Amino acid sequence: MTKIINIALDGPSGSGKSTVAKILSQKLNILYLDTGAMYRATAVKALKLGVAVDDAQGVKSFIDDIDLQIKYVDGAQRTFLDGEDVSEKIREPHVSMAASDISRLKCVRLKMVDMQRKIASSMSCVLDGRDIGSFVLPNADYKFFVTASVKERTDRRYKELVEKGHNVDYNALMQEIEQRDYNDRNRDFAPLKQADDAVVIDTSTMSVDEVVSAIMLRIKD
Ligand code: DC
Repeated sequence: MTKIINIALDGPSGSGKSTVAKILSQKLNILYLDTGAMYRATAVKALKLGVAVDDAQGVKSFIDDIDLQIKYVDGAQRTFLDGEDVSEKIREPHVSMAASDISRLKCVRLKMVDMQRKIASSMSCVLDGRDIGSFVLPNADYKFFVTASVKERTDRRYKELVEKGHNVDYNALMQEIEQRDYNDRNRDFAPLKQADDAVVIDTSTMSVDEVVSAIMLRIKD
């Protein structure tokens, strides 16, 4: 049997993790698991049920039985909630903040982390998230912490949203990114954190290709 390889790619919103993780997974021919999509789908479930994302009791009442599935269609991850493909819906701007809020709840994290560990133990994958190297997979074969300045991350997200046809206020977006960073770094349980043994890559002045090459060099070592 070939050895299962797990690559942890953590970092704040808009650092370029998902773009890099997708390319890496294709180059290495392994799965890409976008763990943020799982928290986003959980937020969509709460919004659908009318449960406030900070209502621990309300969220507890559905989290254990949540019908959340990650499937791969033509190599791309699709996220299904209650049998419905919510891959586009989870990217809507209002879901971003709701996902950050709901991900603070311990019951949510325990459920998601359990699902992520099961997937990672059954196949080689690149996982992008916030706590993969520090909490979900402390023994991952490779750990990277990908970051960039708030301005650079706002520029990237702004461009992406405008290209998708969203009407966005640049300053409000920057504030939202800062607020999400704060939430993600300061939650009590398994916060956004650079693992001690992670390789830090500041992508502020790097192209996607340069980031991918920097990571591939380490993986080939
Ligand atoms: O990576 P993203 O922007 O799609 O993630 C959405 C939110 O989910 C993010 O604000 C924090 C949370 N998240 C998390 O807490 N842990 C992860 N491993 C991935 C995402």
